[in-house]
Amino acid sequence: MIALFDHLARPLLRRIDPETAHALALNALKLAPLPRAAPDDEKLQMQAFGLTFPNPVGLAAGFDKHAEVPDALLRLGFGFVEVGGVTPKPQPGNPKPRLFRLDADQAVINRLGLNSEGAEAVAARLAARTGAAGIVGINIGQNKDSADRTADYVACIEALAAHVSFLTVNVSSPNTPGLRTLQQAAVLDDLLARVIDARDRAAETAPRRPLLLKIAPDLTLGDLDDVVGIARRHRIDGMVIGNTTIGRPNLREAGKAKEAGGLSGRPLFALSTRMLAETYVRAEGAFPLIGVGGIDSGAAAFAKIKAGASLVQLYTGLIFRGVGLVGAIKKDLLDFLRIGRIDALSDAVGRDAAAVTAEPWPG
Ligand SMILES: Cc1cc2nc3c(=O)[nH]c(=O)nc-3n(C[C@H](O)[C@H](O)[C@H](O)COP(=O)(O)O)c2cc1C
Repeated sequence: MIALFDHLARPLLRRIDPETAHALALNALKLAPLPRAAPDDEKLQMQAFGLTFPNPVGLAAGFDKHAEVPDALLRLGFGFVEVGGVTPKPQPGNPKPRLFRLDADQAVINRLGLNSEGAEAVAARLAARTGAAGIVGINIGQNKDSADRTADYVACIEALAAHVSFLTVNVSSPNTPGLRTLQQAAVLDDLLARVIDARDRAAETAPRRPLLLKIAPDLTLGDLDDVVGIARRHRIDGMVIGNTTIGRPNLREAGKAKEAGGLSGRPLFALSTRMLAETYVRAEGAFPLIGVGGIDSGAAAFAKIKAGASLVQLYTGLIFRGVGLVGAIKKDLLDFLRIGRIDALSDAVGRDAAAVTAEPWPG
């Protein structure tokens, strides 16, 4: 079924406007009678944030923004799915066009601007799958016109914590003016205090949900020192490294490269992997990391794990490689373990982190 979907749909999807293609892909997932994914090899299992992941390959935020198809996505073989980003109130996002495919670079630029149906609609969908198997987390953000940005994150936690396995605080989308300033030390300190308090209050009536912080790959190393220090002080459960970049590293599609927005896909791999390793050496095992950015093969996923990721996520790779990519990565990871005589994937986490931080800065 997955091979059939890739064979029939992808040539079509790649010829049409990217946002229409995305809507069609979501519809196909709603309608396709996908069988349950085959059970994963136990060697791929990963423990993180108190959860047991059947495999470490997750779907990154932004694909299923309104939680329309989390269970279909799990049936594609993902070990976990992060839905959202969601904002407390519904908002339309930026005017179209706002999504650009850079085929020659295997990359995407997006400036969607956190288009969201709002926390209430998303919570209702997630509540309807209460008790269903599979790890589904939620990515939360602020409304563009928010008067109290921290209150927006708190409102999302209050609406959604009961219905998800984990919460990701997104302070790194480049398309909501001012959002990334939440990564500044004093602001972040206050934000984390209040979101953790909201999470703990939600834990009085539902299980305590792991709270993760998702950062931009564009932070300076000085900023990263502060962010990781604050994250450790607040005992957050994990970090996601990272979001799209506002940089434009060596792109072939010079015309589209001028579009404003965040870049994802293959050209993001080197920078995001470096920032992952830099975070790993600073976190010193205080919490696990999710590595995201430019994963489009088993080798890329394994490189993220060796650079410090306990789990990985991808989005743009699906656009260029199709949904068969998930199974291909899992198969390759098992091969890497066998060839390297590594008993469990967790043994490989962070193995190359120090070496990666010693390399010249990716340019
Ligand atoms: C169209 C699009 C929408 C996205 N929306 C969100 C979002 O709402 N929240 C978020 O934290 N990240 C969002 N992201 C970032 C992805 O989750 C991911 O961090 C980034 O794309 C790098 O991974 P990739 O190279 O595998 O795509 C979005 C990415 C794309 C391409």
